[in-house]
Amino acid sequence: MSSPNAKFATQVIHAGDQKDPAYNAIMPPIVTASSFVRPNIGEPAGAFGYSRGENPTRHALETCLAELEGGAGAIACASGMAATASVMELLPKDAHVIVSDSVYGGTFRLLEECRTRSSGFTTSYVDLNDTAAIEDAIEDNTALIWIETPTNPLLKLVDLEAIVQVARKHQLLTCVDNTFNSPWNQQPIRYGVDLVMHSTSKYVGGHSDLIGGAVVAATEAQHKQLHYVAMAVGAIQGPFDSYQALRGLKTLDLRMQRQSENAHQIAEHLEQHPAIERVYYPGLPSHPQHDLCKRQMRSGGAVVTVQLNGGLEAAKHVVGRMQYFVLADSLGGVESMINHAFTMSHGSVPEADKLASGITEGLLRLSVGAEAVEDLIAELDYALDGLA
Ligand SMILES: Cc1ncc(COP(=O)(O)O)c(C=O)c1O
Repeated sequence: MSSPNAKFATQVIHAGDQKDPAYNAIMPPIVTASSFVRPNIGEPAGAFGYSRGENPTRHALETCLAELEGGAGAIACASGMAATASVMELLPKDAHVIVSDSVYGGTFRLLEECRTRSSGFTTSYVDLNDTAAIEDAIEDNTALIWIETPTNPLLKLVDLEAIVQVARKHQLLTCVDNTFNSPWNQQPIRYGVDLVMHSTSKYVGGHSDLIGGAVVAATEAQHKQLHYVAMAVGAIQGPFDSYQALRGLKTLDLRMQRQSENAHQIAEHLEQHPAIERVYYPGLPSHPQHDLCKRQMRSGGAVVTVQLNGGLEAAKHVVGRMQYFVLADSLGGVESMINHAFTMSHGSVPEADKLASGITEGLLRLSVGAEAVEDLIAELDYALDGLA
């Protein structure tokens, strides 16, 4: 447990209940037991009974994440999608959900192809920076506003304070997918948000060796409900993966500091490059929501999206000349990654919808890693060479 006034760099190392009562080990052990022995019939069990409900390694991760997000408690889940699905389990049977119009494709799939099969569940996709549009979308059974900021891949931001005002007026729950930021870069509970969801497969884990998810609740009452759902549904994070995530968190501050500084320098460099039509990065003054970024985020983050002057051939030219930036679906690791949203993350979105939202064949998303920025810039210059 870190002291309440501790800085984030201290918190990431000490936050939560990470003690080991058996051996006093410096890191919580990976406790693989499914069951914990009870003293006798009728005598109270210890803190742990059955690992679907509570597990010491998962508990260490959950309490750490809750503290880092400024929440009352957290659940750690088998994946980011399991975390999102767990939030949906909190809603009444016939709920209507207002969703960020540029939501992660997997969230869209879960809501539209799985959840909407339960009778009565409905959704509306809304530009969450348009409060009048949110008000218009609210129905009698609206229960939740699902927020993603920044959006993938165009890095549009959503003003959390403004959304919370609308949500409170109508007594709606709010949940932010904070995957792209990690608690280092944005802490939505500070702005009055109720729930914070993470794919810990990204920045929290940080090493591209883990699939995991989490939901942090602002209040103890919401945490109790979430904990009940986690136990009842069982989409929980296993002990080994909980350990990996906790281990990753120890260096979150160091990684995010370096990766977001690298990203900022790369964004500035690419903005001047003749082969680039446009750079999307909230940390640059040219980003239309740069002021909101300064208010709500610690930095512009570690993802930079670029629109090349050319289309698919230009994108292939760039990717084919990369060595450090590997073509991959994920983001958030210490190694740099590049993603072609048109064919990869947004491959299943109808072409007309992609083009209407600005996702073209010449758009590339860079997940900037922790390598030396000089090497990354040299590689980008080499990869862009030969393009007009
Ligand atoms: C913003 C966002 N949310 C949720 C997810 C889903 O997470 P997972 O892959 O851990 O299930 C992802 C995965 O790419 C993501 O980028």
